Amino acid sequence: MDTFVIEGGRRLEGKLRINGSKNAALPLMCVPLLTDEPVTLRDVPNLADIRSLRNLLAELGCVQTGEQQGMMRLHTQDPTKSHARYEIVRTMRASISTLGPMVAKRGYAKVSMPGGCAIGDRPVDLHLRGLAALGAEITLDGGDIIAKAPRKGLQGATIFLGGQFGSTVLGTANVLCAATLAKGTTVIESAACEPEIVDLANLLIKMGARITGHGSPRLIVEGVEKLSGVDYTVMADRIEAGTFMLAAAITNGDITLENCPIDAMLVVKDKLNAMGIQLAVTGSDLLRATVRVTSARTLKPVEFTTQPHPGFPTDLQAQMMATLTLADGNSVITERIFPERFMHVAELSRMGARLMRQGPTVIVSGVRKLVGAPVMASDLRASAGLVLAGMAAEGTTTLNRVYHLDRGYERMEDRLTSLGANIRRVDDKDLPSHLTGGAD
Ligand code: EPZ
Repeated sequence: MDTFVIEGGRRLEGKLRINGSKNAALPLMCVPLLTDEPVTLRDVPNLADIRSLRNLLAELGCVQTGEQQGMMRLHTQDPTKSHARYEIVRTMRASISTLGPMVAKRGYAKVSMPGGCAIGDRPVDLHLRGLAALGAEITLDGGDIIAKAPRKGLQGATIFLGGQFGSTVLGTANVLCAATLAKGTTVIESAACEPEIVDLANLLIKMGARITGHGSPRLIVEGVEKLSGVDYTVMADRIEAGTFMLAAAITNGDITLENCPIDAMLVVKDKLNAMGIQLAVTGSDLLRATVRVTSARTLKPVEFTTQPHPGFPTDLQAQMMATLTLADGNSVITERIFPERFMHVAELSRMGARLMRQGPTVIVSGVRKLVGAPVMASDLRASAGLVLAGMAAEGTTTLNRVYHLDRGYERMEDRLTSLGANIRRVDDKDLPSHLTGGAD
């Protein structure tokens, strides 16, 4: 398995372009299941999760008919293959996003229940409740969700889609996609407001869907007979942008990000400014702006709670925690979306961070320095947090199981090295045992 060897103490400086968003691209890639015409998506990031979903779509009769750098052309050519198998779904839970489009367009879908993961058990009850409200008959058989639409097709409905943790991003995507072809009007109350949902709605509208309220908690959809093909560019990745902003801050660097969706991350800008990180924004399109990131030598502590958008994104919680371990004072972090999303706490503590967890809250007591150590990646964003800590730590940090990172960051070591970091990707078989650390 691949391991990162990170030599700390290097300031990041230079320029970097933010990639297309993984969390926008994944639901967008399921939209070709809603039409008989080809859909071209541009600026699709080259990530493990993207490749997994492309392989699943091929099994569902939706094949990639064109490929250039970052461009993906998808066309449904065989709508009779409608079984999303456990072997693929368990490796990439966003596969659940094929359910709504297939049951709406084909009248039938069989999708394996996604398993849990390191950050929680990841239920899909809200997805199923929403599709059932549109008239789909939902049954579970041997770990598979079987969804059947009535002969007359799905019918519009008024749906409350909120759960105990608030709105659901992929649940909203599933129900929104299905509603575009349902007969009549659908109201989705407590819809996710995430920018990635706005991106999905914008794509669907370009294909002829009739949607209003996207970006607000109330989505209204007037069903249409069919959707046409389209050529669409995926929005920039706000989580990748936030990760690199914090990488600059934790190394006291000075970097300039291009294609940065600053208007989709105002809560992040607010918190980073409170920490003493300056973001100088230029450019007319604030979803593809140029942002120069500099920071005070000593960062200030902050308090934040993760919440559905426009609240602070849970996907930046680990990266913020890593950065705040070196702030001058105590920070308080509360995780309200995935209360178990703290796999990075023990690993950061191995590097000398002073963290005290009380349920969904972690008190971060700033320390003067972190010390490099062998640490273990566990989920995508925890891994990113550990890379940031390793770049700021004294000495060498080895990060094992880097495949977690590759799911959401394209060749992260190359992009950070281009900014001056010292990170090498090695096979852990080539490492001395004392550097491979971590219990299996
Ligand atoms: C999306 O996951 C993102 N993934 C996640 O990013 C992100 O952390 C999450 O939204 C929250 O912002 C993609 O977009 C591919 P949810 P999603 O449904 O849609 C509960 C990353 O690191 N819930 O919004 O699966 C759920 O348990 C990934 O890039 C139910 O109870 O998340 C959670 O507590 C990790 N029932 C909360 O809602 C349901 O039916 C929010 O989950 C669905 C969700």
